[in-house]
Parts: sequence; structure tokens; C-alpha cells
Amino acid sequence: MGIEAVLPDGTIVNDLLQVRKNNTGYDLKQLFIGSEGTLGIVTGVSILYPRRSTSVNVSYLGVSSYEKVQKVFVEAKAQLGEILSAFELMDGQTQEFVHRKTGNANPLNDRHGFYCLIETSGSDSESDAARIERFLERVLTDELADDGVLAQDESQIKNLWAWREGITEALSHWGGTYKYDMSLPLDDLYRLVEDCRMNLKHKGLLSDLDENNKDCPAIDVVGYGHMGDSNIHLNVPVRRYTKEVEDALEPWVYERVSERSGSVSAEHGLGIAKNNYIGYTRSEVMIGLMRGIKQMWDPKSIMNLYKYFPNTPSITA
Ligand code: LAC
Ligand code: ZN
Repeated sequence: MGIEAVLPDGTIVNDLLQVRKNNTGYDLKQLFIGSEGTLGIVTGVSILYPRRSTSVNVSYLGVSSYEKVQKVFVEAKAQLGEILSAFELMDGQTQEFVHRKTGNANPLNDRHGFYCLIETSGSDSESDAARIERFLERVLTDELADDGVLAQDESQIKNLWAWREGITEALSHWGGTYKYDMSLPLDDLYRLVEDCRMNLKHKGLLSDLDENNKDCPAIDVVGYGHMGDSNIHLNVPVRRYTKEVEDALEPWVYERVSERSGSVSAEHGLGIAKNNYIGYTRSEVMIGLMRGIKQMWDPKSIMNLYKYFPNTPSITA
């Protein structure tokens, strides 16, 4: 709800209000959120804790196509409404990587092209459970999902989440991973992954693990992420980092996202690696306004010098 921060000239900004509603002038604290330390150092926060949900349910579904995943999502929004707290998408390859890394058997018997993890958080265990059970029954009878399980206790909830949260680590075991964190309209969300796979395959840069073609740098192109937020993590696990893969991916991937009016950084920020790509998401006018704010608050440019406008000095310079 509030932030205290120190500006580059030592001024302390105290915006630690303990009320939610405050419509008096510009909401300056928002400038510190997502600005990656370029405007000041946050020294205090005031937080409003929501009440912990007393009833949490988690379901894990296997779905055959991205078109069907979209239908499952619409159904989840319609049936679970305000208690829907996560809708996570994982493609089949990511789940195979987790399986290879952990050795654990997937909760579903057959392999599926896509998997969804759906979580509800509410306060009425009986009615919440009935709602997610009804939802599950509906998507299975309508053949939107091919298979699904519903966690029966806390440890099963943890196990199902591990199939989603274990992805990043499971991908990193083969050499390296190129990572992109994109927002796109839902219709286009997974097409980016398919197109990227085709792009690398076409250039002869991709051969999967089982082919064991060590000359090929890329092992796979996978997608997973927070579908409920229209946010996908496009990851390219590789045997080694190479200029060819990099050139095939960039700026191609940024152009694709820009054409579809998405964002080249949904939740991870621009940092020092992506400062030159801000223009694929933000217009010249927006970047100009941001530069103006930076100039006014940090005229000597001493805060996080290497972030995050185009052509800021590189960290190796
Ligand atoms: C995740 C991180 C990569 O969602 O944002 O797993
Ligand atoms: Zn994420």
C-alpha cells in the first residue's frame, strides 16, 4: 500500500500510508515498482495482508491442443470465477524435461500435448470443492481435456505444483537456456513457441535430446507460464550458447511480439540484457517520458547506470 524510498540526492520519500484509497495527486510510489532501482532505493513498505485462504484446491489436466486449452481456460473463468487463483500452462515437452530430471512418474497416465494446472483459493471448502469438481467433470465430458486429477490433500497439492515449478531447473541441465518472458494476447500466446520451433528447425539448429546430434546447439523450444495473466515463458534449452542460435532468436522473437502488440518483458523486467529492446513494446513518446523522469530524479545518472534505456553504457564497457 505504501513505499518509503531514498532518492539519489538523499531525499527521503515517505509514502507509507496505511490506507488503500488515496487519490491526492500523482501516485508516485508506483514509479518505484518495476523501475529496477533506477530511481531510488526502497527502504520501507507498508503491506496489506489478505486473509489466508482456508480452502485451496489444485487440479492438473492433460489437453490435446492449444485451441482446447483456450476453451478450458474460458470454462475455468466462467465456472470458478472469483476463486480461480492460478491457471498455469505447461507444454508436453516441459513435463517430459521435469520427468527426466526428477525421475517421477507424471500424475497422468498418457502423454499430452499440453498440461494445465488450475488452483482455486476460497473460504468455503465444501462449495469450492464442489465447484472445481463440477468444472473438471464438465471439461472431461465435453472432451476439452483428455484426462485430469484433483489433489486430495496438501502433499498432493505440492506434488502437482512441482510439475510446474520444477520446469526452470529441469531445463537447465543440458548446457544452457535462452529465456524470454512475453505477454501476448491469448489467441497468439502459444503460436510464438510453435513458430520459434519451426524457425530453429528450418535453420538446422534444433535436434531433440533423443536424436543425440551433438552438432546441433538447441535441444528444444518449449513454452510454459501464467496463462491466466496472458504471460508465456518461451525457453530454448541448448547444449551450448552459440551466435547462430542467438541470431536466429533475436530480434525475430521481439518483432513477433511487437507485431501482436505484446510485451517483451511481462514480469522479469528489462535489466541489463534487454534494455535495447524496450522499443519493441514502448513507443518513442513513452520512452521519452521515462527518460524525462530519470533525468529529473537522477540527473547525475548514478542509480543502476546500466539499466534500462537503449544505448546505456554496457556493463563491460
Ligand atoms: C516462472 C518464472 C521463470 O514462472 O517466472 O517459473
Ligand atoms: Zn513466471
